[in-house]
Amino acid sequence: MFSCPVDLILLFVRELYCVHVLPSIQGCEWNKNTGECVGFYQYGYDGEDFMSLDLKKLTWIALTPQAVSIKQIWDADKDRIKRNELYFTEIYPDWLKKYLSYENSSLLRDTDPPSVSLLQKTPSSPVSCHATGFYPDRASMFWRKDGEEIHEDVDHGEILPNHDGTFQMRVDLNISSVKPEDWSRYDCVFHSRCLKKAQTILRDTTHPGHSLFELLPSGRRFRSIKTRTDRFKKSFYPVAITTLNTIKNGP
Ligand SMILES: *[C@@H]1O[C@H](CO)[C@@H](O)[C@H](O)[C@H]1NC(C)=O
Ligand SMILES: *[C@@H]1O[C@H](CO)[C@@H](O)[C@H](O)[C@H]1NC(C)=O
Repeated sequence: MFSCPVDLILLFVRELYCVHVLPSIQGCEWNKNTGECVGFYQYGYDGEDFMSLDLKKLTWIALTPQAVSIKQIWDADKDRIKRNELYFTEIYPDWLKKYLSYENSSLLRDTDPPSVSLLQKTPSSPVSCHATGFYPDRASMFWRKDGEEIHEDVDHGEILPNHDGTFQMRVDLNISSVKPEDWSRYDCVFHSRCLKKAQTILRDTTHPGHSLFELLPSGRRFRSIKTRTDRFKKSFYPVAITTLNTIKNGP
């Protein structure tokens, strides 16, 4: 469920040197299962319930005896009724849909680790190092020869969006002048933001998450974290470890 921000209207009535407060709250609650937006529009008066809008009949309900006469005036205001109808049937649901769509682009989203692969169309075409499924759209990728980053014969592609909100990128290496016996001297490195963060924690022995990165006796892979819940499986540490283990020549 999601509540709209409170729209607070303060109306000051100078009456017997007192100040009265008439706050209103309106919005709608989104039912994720039905997609329905259940509206509410209510006024208070000096801290007591005063008036609320019946959203089906679009008439006001007086919640105190003092509100009865004002209800009749408000019910006669047809322009305002039309405006209210528009808010609750179109504007608020549209806003909610928009804000809910941001949910999936939030940094807290669950993502599977990105996959990195090498692709080559024909034996003479460039070798494409391709990473997909990473989030957010900050990542770096480069080719190395003997462990050193190279720029010659390298073509950097842009970071492109995937349909599921994740991103992909590729970097091509023209290998036409590389002798087959030298191929093993080349590798491709991909760093997603997740990987950067993992590397920072790996270096920082005081970080609370540091002990979760446990190297296996081989010294090349990290022990995966055993979890019982699916939710934790997709949280940062297990994903970071899978990413570190997936990427050839990781840290
Ligand atoms: C967010 O993503 C989930 C899973 O992919 C999807 O079911 C849901 O409809 C998305 N929400 C919105 C508001 O786009
Ligand atoms: C790769 O390099 C060769 C030789 O330097 C060049 O002739 C060829 O056009 C390049 N291929 C691509 C796809 O850029």
